[in-house]
Amino acid sequence: MSEQNIQWTRLAETKSFDEDPEQMIKVKRDDILVIKDNDKFHAINNRCPHLGLALNMGGCNKKDKTIHCKFHSSDFSYDTGEVKAWLNVKGFEKFMMWLFSKFDPDMKKMMVMEPTPLETFRTKVEDDHVWVGIDQGE
Ligand code: FES
Repeated sequence: MSEQNIQWTRLAETKSFDEDPEQMIKVKRDDILVIKDNDKFHAINNRCPHLGLALNMGGCNKKDKTIHCKFHSSDFSYDTGEVKAWLNVKGFEKFMMWLFSKFDPDMKKMMVMEPTPLETFRTKVEDDHVWVGIDQGE
């Protein structure tokens, strides 16, 4: 990741995270979830890398530094993006997914998809605001 390709965007006042430690902020077309954990800010793409559904609905576990996708029970590190659990569905839900995959090839593809890390972004604090750095590529 080249420093030259990083575009920094000012998001929100740092003190606003005291009351609301998880904030969703739109930057261009991305929904970026900023999570304050102790005095550190983490920024992630709110779209789950499995099917693109909203991660903020699943909640964060500050002890493990993970965010949970409630749709198919996956967990990701909000610090590094690493997959901690992938499609960890159980019981009746697992049975239903298996059943649907027998009749629906798209469902089958979704359930055999390889674990994919969560997109994370760099953050910094400047002028009493949290900033997110997004790599613009080559
Ligand atoms: S959409 Fe998140 S695990 Fe399926």
